[in-house]
Amino acid sequence: MLGRLVRRHGDELDDDELAGLADGLLTGGFETTASMLALGALAILRDTVLFGQMTGGDDEVHRAVEELLRYLTVVQIAFPRFARTDVTISATTIAKGDVVLCSLSGANRDPVLGENMERLVPDRAPTQHLAFSHGIHRCLGAELARMELRIALPALARRFPRLRLAVPPEKLSFRELSLVHGIDTLPVYLD
Ligand code: HEM
Repeated sequence: MLGRLVRRHGDELDDDELAGLADGLLTGGFETTASMLALGALAILRDTVLFGQMTGGDDEVHRAVEELLRYLTVVQIAFPRFARTDVTISATTIAKGDVVLCSLSGANRDPVLGENMERLVPDRAPTQHLAFSHGIHRCLGAELARMELRIALPALARRFPRLRLAVPPEKLSFRELSLVHGIDTLPVYLD
């Protein structure tokens, strides 16, 4: 896709625009879903209820996927926003031009969403979580990502019912420098 962009529109794009598009495509469209699949697979390996739920009906899968999206919140902060005017939210005054960063992981653990939000509760009724953010820049690929997760995780659980971790959980290493939360590798036994 990037090659096609360069071939067809190369003269219209400068390097910064091309880098921005590549970042949007690879980080935004690929790394996010790939991380959700790997971390979601780890979550189902560590929770037999969740594993069973993935082999259940559509409603069970839907609940489990929404809870995973909320709990894992792989995109941890929304894009930076800049205040257009002075504004006061709760007791905090934000001046015009100030940058505002919103922690989506923090928002997704807000008690306003329900009880024990710091825990993964596989059959929790879907919440109004912010894993895809909110407002005009809300994730454009949200429904595609949901579809991928609702198909791939149940397929994995059905195809490999004896799936299990090949290393002790404490040996797993998680990404430290990426904006998108993820795992470096997930070694598993399939049978
Ligand atoms: C589980 C997977 C995904 C998660 C958790 C996720 C999450 C997010 C978040 C939090 C934002 C920022 C919104 C904001 O700052 O308000 C965003 C933006 C965006 N996402 Fe996703 N995303 C996922 C998958 C995808 C996929 C598969 C695509 C494309 C096929 C995609 C395309 C986009 C685009 C184009 C934007 C920018 C929207 C804009 O600026 O108006 N995302 N995503």
